[in-house]
Amino acid sequence: MIAVAITGASGPILGIRLVEELLNSGQTVYAVVSDAAWSVIGHELSYKKTGPSPLASLLKNRGKTAGLKLLKEFDSHDLFSPLASGSTPFEALVVAPCSMKTLSAAANGYADSLITRACDVALKEKRKLILVPRETPLSSIHLGNMLKLSRAGAVILPPVMGFYSRPETIGEMVDFVTGKVLNLLGIKHSLFTGWDEQVSRGAPRPDKRKAA
Ligand SMILES: Cc1cc2nc3c(=O)[nH]c(=O)nc-3n(C[C@H](O)[C@H](O)[C@H](O)COP(=O)(O)O)c2cc1C
Repeated sequence: MIAVAITGASGPILGIRLVEELLNSGQTVYAVVSDAAWSVIGHELSYKKTGPSPLASLLKNRGKTAGLKLLKEFDSHDLFSPLASGSTPFEALVVAPCSMKTLSAAANGYADSLITRACDVALKEKRKLILVPRETPLSSIHLGNMLKLSRAGAVILPPVMGFYSRPETIGEMVDFVTGKVLNLLGIKHSLFTGWDEQVSRGAPRPDKRKAA
């Protein structure tokens, strides 16, 4: 079981696509969306939080119906949720996107919500914690928090594009980052063509490419 948290940084689509792909690959997903994330979802995706299972409703609205039984969502204030305890055997927690506020809380053990508590649990239990921080530019405080988390065992995976996959749409760029997270989780995907495959298919060397 993989836990996914979506926080109020720009780019909640990164967490949403990740949940969709995890469900597609048959994973059970425990998901938490912060209040701020719902505000950003409202702004960036023109979607209003609705119903008792708001993330499932959002996924249905995007046309996703298969695999929704594998999705369990929890209120971000519910510290009685399974994700608040190390005795719940989640394999990994991905925070995508991760706001600088949640990053700071995770770096300092400030477990005031289900998301920050789950980060704390992942670190103390030495489970995989993958953070997808979104901010630019980064202050030395942000960078210091990332270094602290990296040293504590977290993986910092900023949503930085690799242009070798030659993305043409925002969807392809989102899928590139989603694929990078899935790679770290050891889950097979076909969201982008890895460089090794591009080379084996004969990716042209710069000197053989036509001038643009
Ligand atoms: C439209 C919008 C975009 C935002 N983008 C970012 C961002 O990219 N990175 C960030 O760290 N905070 C961003 N924020 C601020 C966070 O939402 C805010 O710090 C919030 O308290 C984070 O709470 P959470 O970590 O509990 O979700 C944004 C806020 C809004 C309204």
